Amino acid sequence: MNILVTGGAGFIGSNFVRHLLTASDDTIVNLDLLTYAGNLENLAGCEDDPRYRFVRGDIKDRALVRRVMNDFRISAVVHFAAESHVDRSVEGPEAFVATNVMGTEILLEEARRAQVERFVMVSTDEVYGSLGDKGAFTETTPLAPNSPYAASKAAADLLCRAFHRTFGFPVLITRCSNNYGPYQFPEKLIPLMIANALEDRPLPVYGDGQNVRDWLHVSDHCRAVDLVLRSGVPGEVYNIGGCNEKRNLDLVQLLVDELGKSRDLITFVPDRPGHDRRYAIDAGKISRELGWRPTVTFAAGMADTVKWYLDHQDWLQQVRSGRYREYYDRMYGAGGRHEPEEGRS
Ligand code: NAD
Ligand code: DAU
Repeated sequence: MNILVTGGAGFIGSNFVRHLLTASDDTIVNLDLLTYAGNLENLAGCEDDPRYRFVRGDIKDRALVRRVMNDFRISAVVHFAAESHVDRSVEGPEAFVATNVMGTEILLEEARRAQVERFVMVSTDEVYGSLGDKGAFTETTPLAPNSPYAASKAAADLLCRAFHRTFGFPVLITRCSNNYGPYQFPEKLIPLMIANALEDRPLPVYGDGQNVRDWLHVSDHCRAVDLVLRSGVPGEVYNIGGCNEKRNLDLVQLLVDELGKSRDLITFVPDRPGHDRRYAIDAGKISRELGWRPTVTFAAGMADTVKWYLDHQDWLQQVRSGRYREYYDRMYGAGGRHEPEEGRS
């Protein structure tokens, strides 16, 4: 297949590109705007693979999206590109509606026009809203998003449903819980806490720290998305999750202990507005129907993740200082190792 991966320079997208390059013989085109969250260093080494191409561009740029679909004879799309951080959506929802809603609509239209055979929409468990103390989200739980981020993802998710119902377009939707692992931008809980702890800075825990998230290693998420891409039934929704609920405070304490730092660094700060209390995913459907199961235990995954950030403190520094933005020019700018063809990035 010729697979268009959108948002392939982000956290999950870059892990997914790496996964495809080792686990498949597909050709991969990575379309990414390189917003603040897009970091080509996440893909260092991939540029040399003849099956991988990078195009810098906006999923909202209809002409570009059309050109990419046609020039690379795209047969499948895996759509990760998004504004992904809840706190930023509280500060300014507009970019979330533009990219997550309008961008998804443009991709859907152009993919349909190009007669793409499989379109995987990487949605999120946040579309379901918040749980009480018991129960878990299933694929039939009503959508009740609470943050502007979640609402924009729900809109995109429902557009995908509509494209299947209205046009018979072969869309598959995944809704995954919180991912952790290498290359996560350090504004998200786990890498933020590791980066701050390494510098003995305060570790800001929102509210009472009793909010619960269901954590899954990013490699298990990538395998699940790949499986849905190849074996899922068009029009269906697949929940993905680790059965791995942790309270934020417990998780932060675990990280501090693992790093050998003092718990005194933990600082309670005012809560996130509209903060969802608890997420938990019932992943029974993908397990029964496609045979997917998480393979990375939380203990092993967390130990590996902490080690990865310890071993990649230069990566953390590059991101925290903003220097990662220079990588694009080094690799793809004039005279760079991978200077793009005219109009291609
Ligand atoms: P991320 O913020 O790390 O990466 C997003 C990527 O999209 C970046 O590379 C960015 O440059 C790119 N992008 C943003 N706007 C774009 C645009 N207009 N055109 C082209 N590219 C653009 O996000 P992530 O954490 O890797 O999440 C990836 C996807 O998975 C998102 O759709 C998110 O909603 C979903 N998701 C994330 C999680 C999680 O725990 N991180 C869980 C479930 C679902
Ligand atoms: O559930 C899937 C979602 O997980 C994805 O759709 C989102 O793209 C992804 O960002 C993530 O959203 P969360 O809001 O759950 O992730 P975040 O890392 O921002 O926060 C995790 C929890 O930790 C949440 O309860 C808020 C809390 N938190 C977060 C930060 C950044 C803190 O207490 N302190 C912090 O500094």
